[in-house]
Amino acid sequence: MEPVSKKVFVKTYGCQMNAYDSERMRDVLAPLGYAETARAEDADLVILNTCHIREKAAEKVYSELGKMRRLKRLRSEQGGGMLIAVAGCVAQAEGEEIVRRAPAVDLVFGPQTYHRLPELLARHQADGKSLVETEFPAEDKFGGLAEKALPRKGVAAFLTVQEGCDKFCSFCVVPYTRGAEFSRPVAQIVAEAQKMAIQGIREITLLGQNVNAYSGLNERGQKAGLAGLVAELSLIEGIERLRYTTSHPRDMTEDLIAAHAENAKLMPYLHLPVQSGSDAILKAMNRGHTAEHYLRLIEKIRSFRNDIAMSGDFIVGFPGETEKDFEATLALVRDVSYASAFSFKYSPRPGTPAAEREGQVSETEKAARLAELQALINAQQAAFNRGMISRNLLVLLEKTGRHAGQLVGRSPYLQPVHLEAPAGLIGTTVDAHITGVGSNSLSGHYVQAH
Ligand code: 5AD
Ligand code: SF4
Repeated sequence: MEPVSKKVFVKTYGCQMNAYDSERMRDVLAPLGYAETARAEDADLVILNTCHIREKAAEKVYSELGKMRRLKRLRSEQGGGMLIAVAGCVAQAEGEEIVRRAPAVDLVFGPQTYHRLPELLARHQADGKSLVETEFPAEDKFGGLAEKALPRKGVAAFLTVQEGCDKFCSFCVVPYTRGAEFSRPVAQIVAEAQKMAIQGIREITLLGQNVNAYSGLNERGQKAGLAGLVAELSLIEGIERLRYTTSHPRDMTEDLIAAHAENAKLMPYLHLPVQSGSDAILKAMNRGHTAEHYLRLIEKIRSFRNDIAMSGDFIVGFPGETEKDFEATLALVRDVSYASAFSFKYSPRPGTPAAEREGQVSETEKAARLAELQALINAQQAAFNRGMISRNLLVLLEKTGRHAGQLVGRSPYLQPVHLEAPAGLIGTTVDAHITGVGSNSLSGHYVQAH
């Protein structure tokens, strides 16, 4: 029997981990007859997959839930129904409170529990009561079954290998919302990657909150690090490119650095957040490294792979940050020269140590520092992209572009590249001659198949 056709609307906030979870939610819902819709008002099921990192994250979710409640009422007046679910880190942090404050919510479930969605929906259908599921299922954290059964679409995909964080940076909620570090066993990841290769995936980005702290059991019952995992995955035929994100400077091991020189499938792009260039602030952030340590690390990485594109995260206006501390951040950025970077104004997260500290920086000051830092980073990014002009780059073609005949792919440095080429080349790597630079992408000519 064909499943009844229903619609799901998923709104995703925050990090790539959430984008990945949302994809998987769509996948587990498809066999239940749920097709995706881009309009919440048409949905039988609305899922807000939330992120707790930004300021007033929970309040924003409650305000969005207010809108969804109105849509739900409208649909019920028209004789239809709408289930509202809250997933992700705000769900994890707020738990029961969500149903108390927003009784229209039917389901609340934490990160990495998407594989239980069908079961939660069935339980909810049985008694119509709101359900809150925010326990960390230690053993079943990666929902083995759901992961194994799901087909992947496209050319490039994420694969979660690690979850959680034990670092406790003093500004960050992740260790509280995502729990302790946990790594999937090597064999499970390899099996999934093999399946992905068969399904046409050519590039895999290994995902983890602290991905380079990966420490999963191998077949011999020993712990393997990320370098070992990358080595195993690069043996899979069909998988042409590997990336990983997000890394911590403290876990950047020698063998992983060396892999960037030795393993041609490991792409020359590294997202390695430093947060600040001031040692006093790094200490107050509980980062466990100095600016010098970070700079030396990058020097070393570049001695193995001198073209590596560096990316990072920065926080400005951390409590106690003086003008001099901020200058040190600018100096570090000048020193590294980033291909791209993300920067944020510090926002106090309730329950984290830094939120209670004295010396909170004014909004005006934070905004001014952010603007100055972003101007510097943007200039570096533009220079990095301009440096590609007249060069030939290997581009993995992923999909058709906006204009007829145009395809879009990615360079080894993660830059989107637009070029004209036959659609049959999607999924293959081609040689492209770069002729133009947009705000955040490159354009060029197809030269030849690789
Ligand atoms: N305030 C501002 N930025 C934050 N981040 C994490 N927590 C906070 C916070 N409280 C930033 C960090 C991190 C990125 C994912 O989000 O830079 O690396
Ligand atoms: Fe948060 Fe720090 Fe862990 Fe990154 S390393 S997730 S910033 S606590």
